[in-house]
Amino acid sequence: MYPLIRNRRLRTNESIRSLVRETTITPNDFLVPLFVVEGKGIQQEIASMPNYYRFSLDLLEKEIKLLWTLGLKAVLLFVKVPDNLKDNAGTEALNPDGLMQRAIKTVKNVCPDMLVFTDVALDPYSAYGHDGIVENGIILNDETAEVLAEMSIAHAQAGADFVAPSDMMDGRIGTIREALEDEGFIDTGIMSYSAKYASAFYGPFRDALDSAPGFGDKKTYQMDYANRFEAIRETEMDINEGADIVMVKPGMPYLDILREVKNEFDVPVAVYQVSGEYAMIKAAAEKGWLNHDETMLESTIAFKRAGADIIASYFAKDIVKLIS
Ligand code: PBG
Repeated sequence: MYPLIRNRRLRTNESIRSLVRETTITPNDFLVPLFVVEGKGIQQEIASMPNYYRFSLDLLEKEIKLLWTLGLKAVLLFVKVPDNLKDNAGTEALNPDGLMQRAIKTVKNVCPDMLVFTDVALDPYSAYGHDGIVENGIILNDETAEVLAEMSIAHAQAGADFVAPSDMMDGRIGTIREALEDEGFIDTGIMSYSAKYASAFYGPFRDALDSAPGFGDKKTYQMDYANRFEAIRETEMDINEGADIVMVKPGMPYLDILREVKNEFDVPVAVYQVSGEYAMIKAAAEKGWLNHDETMLESTIAFKRAGADIIASYFAKDIVKLIS
C-alpha cells in the first residue's frame, strides 16, 4: 500500500507512459466514410461538417489514392441522390448504372486493394427520407428487406467487398445473406449496423445527403437510446443471420454498449463516430473552446479502449496524419 505503491511512477514521463500504454491506434483501425455526388470536378464542403466534402467520381479517385498512401485501406460509401430520382421503391438504388454502382467501380479501378463497404438503406433514395418503403405512414419491414437484398446484390455485382445495412429492419441480415448466397456472392461480407440508435447526432449527415425524414422520425425502426439489453438482442440476431461484422452507432454516448457487445460476442465489432460527434468537436475547436487534435485523438482512443475493432470516423484522415 501507499507509499510503497505509487501509481504516478508509471506516469512520470512520456517514455514510461508509452511503454505501459494499453491502447494504441493505427491506420488499420479505420473505416473512412465518403460522400459521393454526380458531376465533374466537384468537391463540396458540407456546411455542418467543416473540412468534410462530397466528391464527384473524378475527385473521388484522387481522394482514394490519397487515403491509400496514408495507409487507410477501407472506405464506406454513401451517395447523394438527386431529388428527381427519389421514389418510394428504391428504384434508383437498383439501377446497375446508378451512382453507387459507378462509385464502387471507380474505387476498385484506381485501387483494387481498397476495401469497399457500401451503405445499404433506402433513405438517400426515398422521397420520404425514410430507410424503408412507406405505406400509410408506416415503414414496411419485410418488403423493405427484399429491396435491401436486391440492392446488396447490385453492390456485390459492382464489386463491393462488404455491404453495410444501416436501416434496422428486422430480419434483413438473413434476407440479404440468403440472397447473396443464392447469387453466388459467397465471399461478400455483411457489416451490420446492429445496435443503431434513433439519435439526434445524425443531423449533419442528413444535411450531407439531403436525407432527413420528411415526416415523423426513425423511432419505429432505430433503437430507443434508453435501452441496453436490446442492443445485445439485436446484435445476437444479426450474427445468427450471417453478419460478419457488427456495429454500435453512434459512438461516444454509447461506449457502454460498445463494451458490452464486445464482451458478449466474438465477431469483430465496429463503432461509428457519427456526423454530430464530428460537428461538435469541429465547432468547439473553431470557437477556440476545445483543442481539435487532442479531443479528436482522445475520442478515438476511447473507442478502441471500449472494445472497437473498427472505427468508422470522419476524422480518419486527420488522425492518421496526426499519429504518423
Ligand atoms: C441512414 C444512415 C444514417 C447514418 C448512416 N446511415 C442516418 C440516419 O439513420 O438517419 C448516420 C451517419 C452519421 O450521422 O454520420 N441509413
